[in-house]
Amino acid sequence: MPKISLKGSKMPSSPIRKLVPYAEAAKKRGTKVIHLNIGQPDIKTPRIALDAIKNSDIEVLAYSRTEGSEEYRGKIAKYYAKHHLKVEAEEIIVTTGGSEALSFAMGSILDEGDEVIIPEPFYANYNGFATANGVNVVPIVSKLEDNFSLPAISEFEKLISPKTKAILICNPGNPTGYLYNKEEIEQLTELVKKHNLFLIADEVYREFAYDGKQHYSLLGISGLEDYAIVIDSVSKRYSMCGARIGCLVSKNKEVIQTALKFAQARLSPPTLAQIASEAALDTPQSYFDDVIEEYVSRRDLLISELQKVEGVKVAQPSGAFYCVVELPVKDSDDFAQWLLEKFNVDNETVMVAPAAGFYASEGLGNNQIRIAYVLEKEQLKKAVHILSEGLKQYHNS
Ligand SMILES: Cc1ncc(COP(=O)(O)O)c(C=O)c1O
Repeated sequence: MPKISLKGSKMPSSPIRKLVPYAEAAKKRGTKVIHLNIGQPDIKTPRIALDAIKNSDIEVLAYSRTEGSEEYRGKIAKYYAKHHLKVEAEEIIVTTGGSEALSFAMGSILDEGDEVIIPEPFYANYNGFATANGVNVVPIVSKLEDNFSLPAISEFEKLISPKTKAILICNPGNPTGYLYNKEEIEQLTELVKKHNLFLIADEVYREFAYDGKQHYSLLGISGLEDYAIVIDSVSKRYSMCGARIGCLVSKNKEVIQTALKFAQARLSPPTLAQIASEAALDTPQSYFDDVIEEYVSRRDLLISELQKVEGVKVAQPSGAFYCVVELPVKDSDDFAQWLLEKFNVDNETVMVAPAAGFYASEGLGNNQIRIAYVLEKEQLKKAVHILSEGLKQYHNS
């Protein structure tokens, strides 16, 4: 039989999805599974976006422009202006989700064997995009005890090698929920300029900043124009994960010209979804105010319930809708599987994402899980109860 590639065999499977067969088996047995494992919001997509597709009168579902439709890019630029970020339409390439933007960014600036430094735990698919691009992830540990704030710049400097081409941050963070403050962004700015590196910020959760804290986008930092690449997406902002629309933004012309070549190879981003995404940009601020209020109250409930569970440690997230939880177990992979295979409370169980897959360093995150608080409060409360009962029984099983 012909052999698959070495790269293919090295591709990591998603820690978020790998337990799916066990969840499916539990459901077949009649057990209800509460999904805390995946960042699929239950929030309604703005009606305006769905109506735009319904009311569209296009007769040929044609390719769009490779870089995204002119109207849509123009409106994205206006969206940034509302956030006091000066971006021109030409500095934007519309992509098939933030996922493709990440892949184009890596492809455009990193060669086979090059290194990208990423604070861990990080969005697990960064590992996948890096592997697909032949790039090595160099992790730098951020700690639960510090709320997953930015590691010391001196630690970054220790990791910079001749192969280092970029630093990648997720702001606010998935899975940490950490929102970088102004000082941290300024420190990173100085660092990349000093060492002539690119700074990629995945800002797909930009709106999800809580407790009156401000989000600091790389697009608002003067002097960073040649270094910054921003990854964006409509997936979470408008609860439009299935639209598959994102974008790559950079003021560095060479980056845009290069990313455009990757974009040309895949022809165009989805046409209908761009129509929906363009309409979504007219979503009133009140939608976000309601959504943020909902997430904050879910977070508050989740964190206070988790803090009551013996042996559990949790950081305080100020953004996105995830948190990393340390459990009194040695192997959260095994515990997560056990919850699905062997445990239930009144025929209900929970599915969590084991955190090891969010780390690149071997052995880290084995006693942690990621929880996505994308469910209603009553479900979250029940889920923590099940988790807590599960921990008691797991130790005795
Ligand atoms: C941090 C982060 N970046 C990028 C993505 C990719 O999102 P999409 O491709 O749906 O835009 C996700 C999805 O969960 C994410 O959490």
